[in-house]
Amino acid sequence: MRLGVLTGGGDCPGLNPLIRGVVKRGVQDFGYEFVGIENGYEGLIEPNMARPLTLADTRGILPRGGTILGTSNKANPFQYAFKEGGHWVERDVSDVALRRYRELGLDGLVAIGGDGTLSIASRLSEQGMRIVGCPKTIDNDLQGTDQTFGYDTARAICTEAVDRLHTTAESHHRVMVLEVMGRYAGFLALESGVAGGADVILIPEIPYRVEPIVAKIARRAERKRSFSIIVVSEGAYPLGGAVSVAQAAGDIPGRGVVRLGGAGKVAADLLAQEIEAEIRVTVLGHLQRGGGPSAADRLLASRYGCKVLDLVKDGQWDHMVALKCNDIVAVPLSESRKDRRVDPRGELVRFAKGLGVSFGD
Ligand code: F6P
Repeated sequence: MRLGVLTGGGDCPGLNPLIRGVVKRGVQDFGYEFVGIENGYEGLIEPNMARPLTLADTRGILPRGGTILGTSNKANPFQYAFKEGGHWVERDVSDVALRRYRELGLDGLVAIGGDGTLSIASRLSEQGMRIVGCPKTIDNDLQGTDQTFGYDTARAICTEAVDRLHTTAESHHRVMVLEVMGRYAGFLALESGVAGGADVILIPEIPYRVEPIVAKIARRAERKRSFSIIVVSEGAYPLGGAVSVAQAAGDIPGRGVVRLGGAGKVAADLLAQEIEAEIRVTVLGHLQRGGGPSAADRLLASRYGCKVLDLVKDGQWDHMVALKCNDIVAVPLSESRKDRRVDPRGELVRFAKGLGVSFGD
């Protein structure tokens, strides 16, 4: 059995442990051979972007962030962007990807990625490619799995940021706004906000109003030397407003997905019109994705990686590995096409409110 391995979409901590798990167990337990495809699906479209992936390549990569295979969040074979006459044009080159897969002599492909990468995998499966998927993303917004790897590490980084903002906010009696990632899902903001003891948490699933936030800050201001911490998801927006976009998809060379950004500043500017306290905004950005994986992410990614081989052995193509009630199971790849969002009436939101957190609703 000769298997290709690729990592697509935004990187996240845990990709290398997963690659290591697949290759180590694949070679040692099954005698399989592996081919590393570079930069996501780009490596199946452009020439000379595939190389042998051996046990030697996996040495020392368990604690390393990023991906040794490289990644891309622009290389969609069904909408591949070329520059023609100074303009970007898109074409369906999925036939090229299928041809390269056959030329490389692959019996199957392990596609590691988020919703974009796995939806593409599901479509390529329909065209005859044999694929097993692995769900990753710091956004934790994939249906079909209880948790994606990368999320635990990012949540810990966000929580540490909330802790660090606490001490400086307290010293200066300021309102500190922390903008975190997550795209259209508020998991990172909600869970790091609760874990860090934020006073206000703004998430895309609950469009906010300024008045309740002002009231919350005013209640805190009744205490001497008060300060407040507000965690804002990049996808959060005021009721009647819109998500803050840093760069529209059409403006990004090679297309790709719309880039979100600015939600923290929007919330801060709205508040500045209503309160006297000084406000500062911190945008955590790609620090949330960089660096090595937490122990939990190393474990989850390694379990996913090892489980991939069971699916391959059983011929369970067109499936992805997933975490369900702490078991690693196989679910249809089509599950990855569905989004997961915070339930605004769910337990954690209710409990957070019980702890005094305002969601601006
Ligand atoms: O999906 C992961 C993620 O980090 C999102 O939270 C964020 O909106 C996006 O990727 C950023 O993408 P890029 O690395 O292209 O700026």
